[in-house]
Amino acid sequence: MTPAGSGSPFPPHFFQREDASADRFFYESPRLVTHIDDATIEALTGLYRETLPPSSRVLDLMSSWVSHLPPEVEYARVAGLGMNADELRANPRLTDRAVRDLNAEPTLPYEDGSFDAVVCAVSVQYLTRPIEVFAEVSRVLAPGGLCLVSFSHRMFPTKAIAIWKALGVEDRVRLVATYLALAGGLGEPLVIDRSPAGADPLWAVAAQRAGD
Ligand SMILES: C[S@@+](CC[C@H](N)C(=O)[O-])C[C@H]1O[C@@H](n2cnc3c(N)ncnc32)[C@H](O)[C@@H]1O
Repeated sequence: MTPAGSGSPFPPHFFQREDASADRFFYESPRLVTHIDDATIEALTGLYRETLPPSSRVLDLMSSWVSHLPPEVEYARVAGLGMNADELRANPRLTDRAVRDLNAEPTLPYEDGSFDAVVCAVSVQYLTRPIEVFAEVSRVLAPGGLCLVSFSHRMFPTKAIAIWKALGVEDRVRLVATYLALAGGLGEPLVIDRSPAGADPLWAVAAQRAGD
């Protein structure tokens, strides 16, 4: 298996990790914690409020017990895909749940065009086959649908890919934008900086599914 997936322009060592064991071991026990400061969560929720219209069908990729969606907004569907069933069960926003190790099986168990938005919060640094995963994101998005990948500076260091740890902020933003550009079917990536003062920073890269 090539870690970055077939057709990846990146060298395999970019995607090596200190802990190369199967992810199911690391994510075996639920972690019912938050991974960014409260002000940063608020900034992410604000970004979702602006970009995810009510009644949208949303996929929360690499989800856990919180999705950070605005509590007052109703969505038609919030599907959650992550590694830990207990975390997903504890997430009250999810309407359906799937456990899948995207590094072992980088496909999404959803039909073509079935979501208006796919969000991925503070987790992209754990993907070892990102181009394959974002190609799948592109596939499951409806025409005009939004892919929104957000990240901060915290991470589980043993599970983050080598290139993420080697890069500074601007290059991490560029790396994620490159993932989206290489996925196919997504438009020009847009970079958003919503870092609150005095709290964990927040950057997002967004791209829209091209119309058919
Ligand atoms: C730092 S947590 C972030 C959780 C959540 N998105 C949030 O904003 O709080 C990282 C998440 O990535 C998910 N994850 C890590 N490796 C994964 C993999 N190989 N396949 C699918 N999900 C993965 C885990 O289930 C975990 O919930």
